[in-house]
Amino acid sequence: MGSKLELLNRKKEEALKGGGEARIESQHKKRKLTARERLNLLLDKGSFEEIGMLTSHRSTNFGLDKQQFLGDGVVTGYGTIHGRPMYVFSQDFTVFGGSLAEVHAKKIVRIMDLSLQNGIPMIGLNDSGGARIQEGVVSLGGYADIFYRNTMASGVVPQISAIMGPCAGGAVYSPALTDFIYMVQDSSFMFVTGPNVVKTVTHEEVTSEELGGATTHASKSGVAHFAVENDLKCINDLKKLMTYLPQNCEEAAPSYPYEAKDETRLDLNSIIPDNPNQPYNIKDVINQLVDEDSFYEVQETYAENIVIGFAFLAGKSIGVVANQPAFLAGVLDSNASNKAGRFVRFCDSFNIPLLVLEDVPGFLPGTEQEWNGIINNGAKLLYAFCEATVPRITVITRKAYGGAYDVMNSKHIGADMNYAWPSSEIAVMGAKGAAEIIFRKEIQEAADPAAKLLEKEAEYAELFAHPYNAAKHGFIDEVIEPSVTRTKLIRAFDMLKNKVSHLPKKKHGNIPL
Ligand code: HXC
Repeated sequence: MGSKLELLNRKKEEALKGGGEARIESQHKKRKLTARERLNLLLDKGSFEEIGMLTSHRSTNFGLDKQQFLGDGVVTGYGTIHGRPMYVFSQDFTVFGGSLAEVHAKKIVRIMDLSLQNGIPMIGLNDSGGARIQEGVVSLGGYADIFYRNTMASGVVPQISAIMGPCAGGAVYSPALTDFIYMVQDSSFMFVTGPNVVKTVTHEEVTSEELGGATTHASKSGVAHFAVENDLKCINDLKKLMTYLPQNCEEAAPSYPYEAKDETRLDLNSIIPDNPNQPYNIKDVINQLVDEDSFYEVQETYAENIVIGFAFLAGKSIGVVANQPAFLAGVLDSNASNKAGRFVRFCDSFNIPLLVLEDVPGFLPGTEQEWNGIINNGAKLLYAFCEATVPRITVITRKAYGGAYDVMNSKHIGADMNYAWPSSEIAVMGAKGAAEIIFRKEIQEAADPAAKLLEKEAEYAELFAHPYNAAKHGFIDEVIEPSVTRTKLIRAFDMLKNKVSHLPKKKHGNIPL
């Protein structure tokens, strides 16, 4: 037995070395951790169980048979994060540049199948040169096997991707099919075609970082949900994200014991400026309403006119969607609608109740918006709210104008509780715009048109710039003093905790994609 054990240990040692010392050093020089170092940080100490450590490829193309590395460029298995089981894969850039081929793909597929069968989240740490060029079409098949499973698992288990190195070509579509993407600044990039191809085809000169780096995807394209400084921060943030998410779609959202205390937040009574056109930061409102330091913002630098993120409220995980008056006056545009729509669907898939804070002057006008499909994009957010069956509560803090009033989780589309602050203005449009339209003739014919406009504006505001018409119709359940909002939310979400709501039987809906 002694010599057999020795052989086993030798093989394990060999696998642990990945592509060897020199390549590990080169990885560190690029300020990247190795696949195994990342897993050690991600999973609870000593919890990792590896699957397929001794696998290797069976290709003979281009002398590949003489280059054998145990594990075939990806470390797969399971372990725990804060005591909860997770399936993981971590691509090893030190072996064939983490490139994906037959065996590498089979290992990932196996983990994904286990994740789906057992209702356990799937976390992928990506660091790969793409399809292993020597293995050809087998690699492409491997990607497609993964894409298929990403789609089957969507809405069943949370799937999280961290891009910690290259991710190019068709390889980008696996992360894109998952729920959240982390990217590490200056060491990761994602693009369908790289700078060289871009130059040839469009004559644009662009660096990898500009084309598909973390900052680009977190602010311009919205592909990345989080851009983080380094591998360590990426892994720590990812672990934090998991605390808000259940294991699968059958489980309730996470919660921890909470001791009730004085929930009054007096500061909220003075947070809305007297001038309705003056901005304020909705994140100040969110932070007052949710448990201290619990708000974890998603897509912080993309479509900043809407704020989304997870938080705990009296110890229970919730999703927050809030218009941001401090950016573009909180208007809804295509990007904001897409951002919030996808987030609403994620929360609904995983039983995470939704809190909506509304201060929206309407949809953004203009050719750019119309030609880029604000109609379809706005409809995505509308559809997402209409379809969501989780407990949903809206608080209107100020403006709720026009179609945006309907879209932002109004009672009519299924919100469970709708509150409004006394500062709310719930109307078809703002007073100035309304006065200009309905009193146009009168204003034009007046001796002093500007004064007439002001007079008519005030008249309209008095009639409509408040929450009481909506309250009269029962569209608002209660007009509340801002300071008691947190208390109201805690009680209302508790009242709704056993909510049962079923959608009509169908194969699946047809969201305006
Ligand atoms: C095989 C690869 C590889 C690949 C890198 N390597 N990419 N081996 N297949 N796709 C190997 C290198 O030969 C090298 O091996 C090691 O990984 C490290 O690569 P370097 O080039 O030295 O590293 P670096 O300078 O950091 O550059 C990384 C890189 C570059 C930007 C990823 O390697 C690169 O451009 N690779 C090719 C990318 C590519 O075109 N992939 C196919 C995309 S198409 P040694 O032995 O020297 O350590 C695709 C289609 C998917 O993926 C479709 C799915 C539907």
